Formats: sequence, structure tokens, C-alpha cells
Amino acid sequence: MTRGPTIGILTGGGDCPGLNAVIRAATKSAIRLGYDMVGFLRGYEGLVDPVGYMPLDAQNTAGILLQGGTILGSTNKGRFTSLVGRGERVGIDPELLTQAAATVRQLGLSGLICVGGDGSLGIAEQLHAHGVPVVGVPKTIDNDLCGTAFTFGFDSAVATATDALDRLHTTAASHERIMVLEVMGRHAGWIALHAGIAGGGDVILLPEIAWTFEGVCRKIVERDREGKRFTLIVVAEGAHLPNGELVHGDAAAGRGQVKLGGIGEIVAGEVSGRLGRVARTVVLGHLQRGGSPTPFDRMLATEFGAHAVRLVHEGRFGEMVCYRPPEIASLPIAEAVGRLSTVDPRGSAVQAARALGIGFGDDEDGVPFGRGGAGPSGQ
Ligand code: F6P
Repeated sequence: MTRGPTIGILTGGGDCPGLNAVIRAATKSAIRLGYDMVGFLRGYEGLVDPVGYMPLDAQNTAGILLQGGTILGSTNKGRFTSLVGRGERVGIDPELLTQAAATVRQLGLSGLICVGGDGSLGIAEQLHAHGVPVVGVPKTIDNDLCGTAFTFGFDSAVATATDALDRLHTTAASHERIMVLEVMGRHAGWIALHAGIAGGGDVILLPEIAWTFEGVCRKIVERDREGKRFTLIVVAEGAHLPNGELVHGDAAAGRGQVKLGGIGEIVAGEVSGRLGRVARTVVLGHLQRGGSPTPFDRMLATEFGAHAVRLVHEGRFGEMVCYRPPEIASLPIAEAVGRLSTVDPRGSAVQAARALGIGFGDDEDGVPFGRGGAGPSGQ
């Protein structure tokens, strides 16, 4: 049992920059409202482990605003896994949910703030159905959560991928090479799209737009003709091959999602073979998940943390904070999880990219929007 009114917080799923900023903001604002704060360790596991939490206060959360990772630890594998295989959702063992609910009750928590992506918030929703007073905070570098314009972590991941493209640009130009940058994004190509545009990429391959190797090669040849003898290709790890397959290593041991990766090397090999050109691959991987959050992510994470505490204080359980520009708002967790936010192939960012001549490896490359492929005069 805790001493006074207390709020719990945990971070679940894959980490991302900004988690500590949420923990700090929630702790600071909870203290000012008269609450004590406890943080559960290793995500939801901390709820079923007798020594699974630590007190959070002004001292141990000082200076963590700019720290990557999470001081509480996290896990996206193990007993509390709601997504398996290629994203199928499964129910958590009811016995585990009962144990977790008992911990929250025994500690007398006023509320439990669960910070996570689609999978982790799906668990939060199940806990809520088990009577736990839960409030959700959306995070993921992939930005694929519904109900919020942005998740924190995304801007930092885009900054890392853009910096990588800036660096690849000069070496690609110097050696007249094709450079393929593979970025994260399981189901959604937000990172590839935003970094591809911000980093001056030439071809962007997304899970949302079907592409062919011919389409990719066509863009490279077009650039060659324009005297630009190098090409930057950005590919999302979750982009399907032209035959519809996803590229992945071994399925994760036990419960958990398939580990994606390797499409960059396949694209580089195929393009190099077809055009007789040198191509190199860089897989950015977990560099996108580490490091200090950008100022935008610090701001968003801070607002999310403070707003989550306000929801607990007002007894608005089962809700998830969200960003509805220019405001921070909230919606039922159930409305946000289980249906991912993906790139709209006809959205403004894709349109802007096409207008600049950025290729998506499909037949619409070079076709101005609204002309239905009928050429410059629209005839
Ligand atoms: O969900 C975020 C994400 O970064 C995905 O883009 C990626 O496929 C996955 O996490 C990798 O997670 P891990 O290596 O931690 O299993």
C-alpha cells in the first residue's frame, strides 16, 4: 500500500526518444497536484513482479528530459504480448490481467499511465476492461497510431534518418553510386516518406505503394540522363517486394512479432544487377530508436505526460491523450488501437514528392496529379 494518493506509470513496447520526457512531466505535474508517483519496471512485467516498481520523485527524474530510452525499462516480448506474427492481435492470459489488476488495487493507485504503441495500448485496453483505472499515452517512432496526428519519437527518428541521408548524399555523389537507406516502419512508411523528402531522396519505397524494380530503375536512368549519376533510395523495412512478400529474418522466439529487415540489400542487389551500377546499402535499424529526443518530441512528450496526469485527476479512465493540432486532447483507447494510421498514397506529402520528381517505383512517377496520366496538356 502506498502512503497517499499515488499514480503509477509504465513504458511498454519498443523504446523511443521522449519516453523519459513523459515520465518526468507526469512525475512533476503529479507531485504538484499532491500525488506520489511510482514507475513500474520492464513495462507490464513490473505489474506482476513483487519488486517491479520504484518511487519516482523530483530527484530521480531530474535531468532525464533529454535522455533517450526509458529509466523504467521496457519490453516488447514475453508474457504481456498482444501482437504476434505479422501483427495479429491476441488476448492476454486473463490470469495475468487479474494479477496485474490486483497489484494496482493493493498499491491503492489512483490511476495507471501506460505509455506505448498500438500493441502496448491494446494491453492497456484489456487492463481497463479488467477494472484497472488506465490512461494511455501514445508513443512509437513509426507514427502509425490512430487518433493522434503525431506520436512522440517519430520526429526524432525522422531527424536521425534525415541526417543519415545528408551524409549518404555526399558520398553517393562523389562515387556516382546508388545508395539504399533502409529505415524502420513495419506497417507504415511515415519515416521513409518524411526523411526521404527532408533528406532529398530520389526514390522512396513504402508499404502503402506497390512498386516494381523496373519503376526504381527507370528513375535511376532518368537521373543519369539528367547528368545526375547518383541516386538515393529510401526503403521502409515493411515495404512489400513486388511479389507481395515481406522481407524478414527468423520469426521472433516465442510470442512476438516477426523481425523485419533485409529489403534494402535486396533492392541494392537487384538494381545493381539490372543496371550494372555500384549500389551500397545502409540499414539504420535501432539508431532511429536511440538518442536524445528532438525539441518537438520533448515538447509533445511533456504535454502528453502532463495531460495524462490531468486525465487521472479528473477520473477519465480508458482514455488516451492525443495531439489534435494545435491542441492536446484525448479519446477512448479503444478507438485508437487495432487500426493503424498509414500513409495516404494520394495525400499531400506524396503529391509534393511526386511534384518534385521523387519516384515511388510505380507507374504514377512523372504523372502530374489530377491529369489522370494523360500527359502535360491533360489531353
Ligand atoms: O514499432 C517500432 C519498431 O521500431 C518497428 O519499426 C520495428 O520493426 C520494431 O520496432 C523493431 O523492434 P525490436 O527490434 O525491438 O523487436
